[in-house]
Amino acid sequence: MAKILCVGIATVDIVNEVASYPSEDDEIRILAQDKCRGGNAANTSVVLSQLGHQCYWAGTLVNEADCRVILDDFEHYQINYKYGQLLAQGKVPTSYIILNQATGSRTISHYRDLPEYHFNDFININLQQFEHIHFEGRNVEQTLKMMAHVKAQFPGIVISLELEKSRDNIESLIKYADIIIFSRHYAQTQGFNRADDFCQYMGKKYTHKIIFCAWGSLGAAAIFKQNYYWQDAYLVDAVDTLAAGDVFNAAIIDHQIKKKTIQKSLANACKLAAQQCAHKGIELV
Ligand code: FRU
Repeated sequence: MAKILCVGIATVDIVNEVASYPSEDDEIRILAQDKCRGGNAANTSVVLSQLGHQCYWAGTLVNEADCRVILDDFEHYQINYKYGQLLAQGKVPTSYIILNQATGSRTISHYRDLPEYHFNDFININLQQFEHIHFEGRNVEQTLKMMAHVKAQFPGIVISLELEKSRDNIESLIKYADIIIFSRHYAQTQGFNRADDFCQYMGKKYTHKIIFCAWGSLGAAAIFKQNYYWQDAYLVDAVDTLAAGDVFNAAIIDHQIKKKTIQKSLANACKLAAQQCAHKGIELV
Protein backbone atom coordinates (compact mmCIF):
# COMPACT_ATOMS: atom_id res chain seq x y z
CA MET A 1 0.00 0.00 0.00
CA ALA A 2 1.37 3.41 -0.95
CA LYS A 3 0.38 6.98 -0.24
CA ILE A 4 -0.43 8.55 -3.61
CA LEU A 5 -1.40 12.06 -4.66
CA CYS A 6 -3.33 12.53 -7.93
CA VAL A 7 -3.43 16.04 -9.37
CA GLY A 8 -6.02 16.88 -12.02
CA ILE A 9 -9.74 17.30 -12.49
CA ALA A 10 -12.87 16.05 -10.79
CA THR A 11 -16.09 16.46 -12.72
CA VAL A 12 -19.78 15.79 -12.53
CA ASP A 13 -20.72 13.38 -15.33
CA ILE A 14 -24.28 13.31 -16.58
CA VAL A 15 -24.44 10.02 -18.41
CA ASN A 16 -27.33 9.50 -20.82
CA GLU A 17 -27.71 5.96 -22.09
CA VAL A 18 -29.17 5.58 -25.56
CA ALA A 19 -29.94 2.56 -27.74
CA SER A 20 -27.81 3.88 -30.59
CA TYR A 21 -25.89 7.02 -31.35
CA PRO A 22 -28.16 9.79 -32.71
CA SER A 23 -27.74 11.66 -35.97
CA GLU A 24 -27.48 15.43 -35.97
CA ASP A 25 -30.84 17.15 -35.36
CA ASP A 26 -32.41 13.86 -34.20
CA GLU A 27 -34.78 13.56 -31.25
CA ILE A 28 -34.24 10.44 -29.20
CA ARG A 29 -35.23 8.85 -25.88
CA ILE A 30 -32.73 8.49 -23.07
CA LEU A 31 -33.09 4.97 -21.64
CA ALA A 32 -31.30 5.60 -18.37
CA GLN A 33 -29.58 8.55 -16.74
CA ASP A 34 -26.90 8.75 -14.11
CA LYS A 35 -25.24 11.70 -12.42
CA CYS A 36 -21.91 10.75 -10.95
CA ARG A 37 -18.40 11.91 -10.21
CA GLY A 38 -15.84 11.69 -13.01
CA GLY A 39 -12.61 13.35 -14.11
CA ASN A 40 -9.39 11.62 -15.07
CA ALA A 41 -7.30 12.19 -11.95
CA ALA A 42 -10.32 11.62 -9.72
CA ASN A 43 -11.21 8.36 -11.51
CA THR A 44 -7.63 7.16 -11.27
CA SER A 45 -7.54 7.85 -7.52
CA VAL A 46 -10.80 5.99 -6.99
CA VAL A 47 -9.39 2.91 -8.72
CA LEU A 48 -6.07 3.16 -6.85
CA SER A 49 -8.01 3.39 -3.60
CA GLN A 50 -9.93 0.22 -4.47
CA LEU A 51 -6.57 -1.45 -5.13
CA GLY A 52 -5.64 -0.73 -1.51
CA HIS A 53 -3.64 2.50 -1.77
CA GLN A 54 -4.13 5.57 0.39
CA CYS A 55 -5.15 8.29 -2.05
CA TYR A 56 -5.25 12.05 -1.99
CA TRP A 57 -6.68 14.21 -4.75
CA ALA A 58 -5.73 17.81 -5.54
CA GLY A 59 -7.50 20.14 -7.97
CA THR A 60 -10.16 22.86 -7.94
CA LEU A 61 -13.84 22.61 -7.04
CA VAL A 62 -16.66 25.08 -6.52
CA ASN A 63 -18.90 25.43 -3.53
CA GLU A 64 -22.21 24.76 -5.30
CA ALA A 65 -24.84 22.03 -5.14
CA ASP A 66 -23.25 19.70 -7.72
CA CYS A 67 -20.01 19.66 -5.78
CA ARG A 68 -21.69 17.33 -3.27
CA VAL A 69 -21.82 14.61 -5.95
CA ILE A 70 -18.03 14.75 -6.13
CA LEU A 71 -17.33 15.00 -2.42
CA ASP A 72 -19.77 12.20 -1.50
CA ASP A 73 -18.07 9.89 -3.95
CA PHE A 74 -14.60 10.85 -2.70
CA GLU A 75 -15.77 10.09 0.82
CA HIS A 76 -17.28 6.79 -0.29
CA TYR A 77 -13.95 5.70 -1.79
CA GLN A 78 -11.89 7.25 1.02
CA ILE A 79 -10.13 9.75 -1.20
CA ASN A 80 -8.68 12.54 0.90
CA TYR A 81 -9.49 15.86 -0.81
CA LYS A 82 -8.13 18.24 1.81
CA TYR A 83 -5.54 19.58 -0.65
CA GLY A 84 -8.24 20.51 -3.17
CA GLN A 85 -9.22 24.18 -3.50
CA LEU A 86 -12.89 24.91 -2.84
CA LEU A 87 -13.70 28.14 -4.68
CA ALA A 88 -16.67 30.39 -4.02
CA GLN A 89 -17.66 31.03 -7.63
CA GLY A 90 -17.92 29.16 -10.90
CA LYS A 91 -19.34 25.76 -11.78
CA VAL A 92 -17.86 22.33 -11.18
CA PRO A 93 -16.63 20.96 -14.52
CA THR A 94 -19.54 19.06 -16.03
CA SER A 95 -19.53 16.45 -18.78
CA TYR A 96 -22.65 15.57 -20.75
CA ILE A 97 -22.06 12.04 -21.94
CA ILE A 98 -23.88 9.92 -24.50
CA LEU A 99 -23.33 6.27 -23.68
CA ASN A 100 -24.28 4.13 -26.64
CA GLN A 101 -25.69 0.80 -25.40
CA ALA A 102 -25.03 -0.83 -28.77
CA THR A 103 -21.25 -0.33 -28.65
CA GLY A 104 -20.36 1.00 -25.19
CA SER A 105 -18.91 4.12 -26.82
CA ARG A 106 -18.99 7.30 -24.80
CA THR A 107 -19.22 10.72 -26.42
CA ILE A 108 -18.28 13.54 -24.10
CA SER A 109 -19.27 17.23 -24.26
CA HIS A 110 -17.41 19.00 -21.51
CA TYR A 111 -18.28 22.34 -19.88
CA ARG A 112 -15.79 24.17 -17.71
CA ASP A 113 -16.01 27.51 -15.92
CA LEU A 114 -13.45 27.22 -13.17
CA PRO A 115 -9.94 28.52 -12.50
CA GLU A 116 -7.19 25.94 -12.75
CA TYR A 117 -5.32 24.50 -9.79
CA HIS A 118 -2.36 26.74 -9.05
CA PHE A 119 1.25 26.11 -8.13
CA ASN A 120 0.81 28.39 -5.08
CA ASP A 121 -1.77 25.94 -3.71
CA PHE A 122 0.36 22.94 -4.54
CA ILE A 123 3.44 24.10 -2.64
CA ASN A 124 1.44 24.22 0.58
CA ILE A 125 0.98 20.45 0.44
CA ASN A 126 3.22 18.39 2.66
CA LEU A 127 4.63 16.35 -0.23
CA GLN A 128 7.17 14.46 1.81
CA GLN A 129 4.50 11.95 2.87
CA PHE A 130 3.92 10.66 -0.70
CA GLU A 131 5.63 7.81 -2.47
CA HIS A 132 4.05 8.56 -5.80
CA ILE A 133 2.44 11.61 -7.44
CA HIS A 134 0.33 11.26 -10.57
CA PHE A 135 -0.31 14.30 -12.77
CA GLU A 136 -2.96 14.68 -15.44
CA GLY A 137 -1.37 16.29 -18.50
CA ARG A 138 -3.25 19.61 -18.63
CA ASN A 139 -3.00 23.12 -17.19
CA VAL A 140 0.54 23.02 -18.59
CA GLU A 141 2.06 26.19 -17.16
CA GLN A 142 1.11 25.43 -13.55
CA THR A 143 1.61 21.68 -13.78
CA LEU A 144 5.12 22.19 -15.12
CA LYS A 145 6.01 24.23 -12.04
CA MET A 146 4.50 21.62 -9.74
CA MET A 147 6.41 18.78 -11.37
CA ALA A 148 9.68 20.73 -11.36
CA HIS A 149 9.18 21.47 -7.67
CA VAL A 150 8.63 17.79 -6.82
CA LYS A 151 11.72 16.70 -8.77
CA ALA A 152 13.91 19.39 -7.21
CA GLN A 153 12.74 19.12 -3.61
CA PHE A 154 11.62 15.49 -3.36
CA PRO A 155 13.65 13.48 -5.87
CA GLY A 156 12.65 10.22 -4.18
CA ILE A 157 8.98 10.59 -5.18
CA VAL A 158 8.05 8.75 -8.36
CA ILE A 159 6.10 10.91 -10.82
CA SER A 160 3.68 9.53 -13.38
CA LEU A 161 2.08 11.65 -16.08
CA GLU A 162 -0.96 11.01 -18.23
CA LEU A 163 -0.82 12.53 -21.72
CA GLU A 164 -4.25 11.98 -23.19
CA LYS A 165 -4.88 15.06 -25.31
CA SER A 166 -2.36 17.18 -27.16
CA ARG A 167 -2.20 20.76 -25.94
CA ASP A 168 0.30 23.57 -26.47
CA ASN A 169 3.66 22.75 -24.97
CA ILE A 170 2.34 19.65 -23.23
CA GLU A 171 5.41 17.53 -23.98
CA SER A 172 7.46 19.91 -21.81
CA LEU A 173 5.95 18.04 -18.83
CA ILE A 174 7.73 14.83 -19.81
CA LYS A 175 11.10 15.96 -18.57
CA TYR A 176 9.99 15.74 -14.92
CA ALA A 177 8.09 12.45 -15.18
CA ASP A 178 9.45 8.97 -14.54
CA ILE A 179 6.48 7.17 -16.08
CA ILE A 180 4.46 8.56 -18.97
CA ILE A 181 1.15 7.05 -20.04
CA PHE A 182 0.02 8.14 -23.49
CA SER A 183 -3.37 7.53 -25.01
CA ARG A 184 -3.95 6.21 -28.51
CA HIS A 185 -5.72 9.47 -29.25
CA TYR A 186 -2.55 11.39 -28.37
CA ALA A 187 -0.37 9.17 -30.57
CA GLN A 188 -2.79 9.54 -33.45
CA THR A 189 -2.88 13.32 -33.18
CA GLN A 190 0.93 13.18 -33.50
CA GLY A 191 0.46 11.31 -36.79
CA PHE A 192 1.10 7.73 -35.59
CA ASN A 193 -1.27 4.95 -36.55
CA ARG A 194 0.61 2.14 -34.88
CA ALA A 195 1.56 1.82 -31.21
CA ASP A 196 4.99 0.39 -32.01
CA ASP A 197 5.91 3.30 -34.30
CA PHE A 198 4.81 5.79 -31.66
CA CYS A 199 6.67 3.98 -28.85
CA GLN A 200 9.86 3.65 -30.89
CA TYR A 201 9.72 7.35 -31.67
CA MET A 202 9.11 8.36 -28.04
CA GLY A 203 11.56 5.76 -26.75
CA LYS A 204 14.37 7.32 -28.77
CA LYS A 205 13.47 10.79 -27.60
CA TYR A 206 13.14 9.89 -23.93
CA THR A 207 15.53 7.01 -23.41
CA HIS A 208 15.30 6.78 -19.61
CA LYS A 209 11.58 7.21 -19.14
CA ILE A 210 9.16 4.32 -18.84
CA ILE A 211 6.65 4.93 -21.59
CA PHE A 212 3.25 3.26 -21.82
CA CYS A 213 0.68 3.72 -24.53
CA ALA A 214 -2.87 2.34 -24.38
CA TRP A 215 -4.19 1.23 -27.76
CA GLY A 216 -7.92 0.80 -27.13
CA SER A 217 -9.56 -2.44 -28.16
CA LEU A 218 -6.29 -3.77 -29.63
CA GLY A 219 -4.17 -3.69 -26.47
CA ALA A 220 -1.34 -1.58 -25.10
CA ALA A 221 2.37 -1.03 -25.61
CA ALA A 222 5.39 0.16 -23.65
CA ILE A 223 9.02 1.01 -24.25
CA PHE A 224 11.91 1.40 -21.86
CA LYS A 225 15.60 1.67 -22.74
CA GLN A 226 14.83 0.65 -26.34
CA ASN A 227 12.99 -2.53 -25.25
CA TYR A 228 9.52 -2.69 -26.70
CA TYR A 229 6.60 -4.50 -25.02
CA TRP A 230 3.11 -5.32 -26.26
CA GLN A 231 -0.02 -6.81 -24.64
CA ASP A 232 -3.11 -7.85 -26.59
CA ALA A 233 -6.40 -6.55 -25.24
CA TYR A 234 -8.64 -8.95 -23.34
CA LEU A 235 -11.77 -9.32 -25.39
CA VAL A 236 -15.08 -8.39 -23.78
CA ASP A 237 -18.44 -7.15 -24.94
CA ALA A 238 -18.07 -3.46 -24.14
CA VAL A 239 -21.06 -1.92 -22.39
CA ASP A 240 -19.36 1.17 -20.95
CA THR A 241 -15.97 2.46 -22.08
CA LEU A 242 -16.21 5.67 -20.02
CA ALA A 243 -13.02 6.07 -17.94
CA ALA A 244 -11.38 2.89 -19.28
CA GLY A 245 -8.21 4.94 -19.83
CA ASP A 246 -8.26 6.17 -16.23
CA VAL A 247 -8.61 2.59 -14.99
CA PHE A 248 -5.72 1.58 -17.26
CA ASN A 249 -3.56 4.35 -15.75
CA ALA A 250 -4.38 3.31 -12.19
CA ALA A 251 -3.50 -0.31 -12.93
CA ILE A 252 -0.14 0.73 -14.41
CA ILE A 253 0.64 2.95 -11.41
CA ASP A 254 -0.36 0.18 -8.99
CA HIS A 255 1.95 -2.37 -10.63
CA GLN A 256 4.83 0.06 -11.02
CA ILE A 257 4.58 0.93 -7.31
CA LYS A 258 4.66 -2.81 -6.56
CA LYS A 259 7.82 -3.06 -8.72
CA LYS A 260 6.22 -5.49 -11.15
CA THR A 261 7.73 -5.87 -14.61
CA ILE A 262 6.60 -3.71 -17.51
CA GLN A 263 5.04 -6.74 -19.19
CA LYS A 264 3.04 -7.62 -16.06
CA SER A 265 2.02 -3.97 -15.65
CA LEU A 266 0.68 -3.95 -19.21
CA ALA A 267 -1.19 -7.22 -18.73
CA ASN A 268 -2.76 -6.02 -15.49
CA ALA A 269 -3.78 -2.69 -17.02
CA CYS A 270 -5.36 -4.31 -20.08
CA LYS A 271 -7.20 -6.76 -17.86
CA LEU A 272 -8.64 -4.15 -15.48
CA ALA A 273 -9.55 -1.84 -18.36
CA ALA A 274 -11.37 -4.71 -20.11
CA GLN A 275 -13.20 -5.67 -16.92
CA GLN A 276 -14.28 -2.06 -16.54
CA CYS A 277 -15.63 -1.93 -20.11
CA ALA A 278 -17.70 -5.04 -19.47
CA HIS A 279 -19.85 -3.36 -16.80
CA LYS A 280 -21.09 0.10 -15.96
CA GLY A 281 -19.03 2.40 -13.74
CA ILE A 282 -15.51 2.06 -12.31
CA GLU A 283 -16.27 -0.20 -9.37
CA LEU A 284 -13.66 -2.97 -9.60
CA VAL A 285 -15.13 -6.43 -10.01
C1 FRU B 1 -13.34 9.96 -18.42
C2 FRU B 1 -13.49 11.36 -17.92
C3 FRU B 1 -14.90 11.68 -17.46
C4 FRU B 1 -14.89 13.17 -17.53
C5 FRU B 1 -14.04 13.46 -18.74
C6 FRU B 1 -13.18 14.67 -18.57
O1 FRU B 1 -12.00 9.70 -18.73
O2 FRU B 1 -12.60 11.62 -16.84
O3 FRU B 1 -15.22 11.13 -16.20
O4 FRU B 1 -16.13 13.73 -17.62
O5 FRU B 1 -13.23 12.32 -18.93
O6 FRU B 1 -12.42 14.93 -19.69
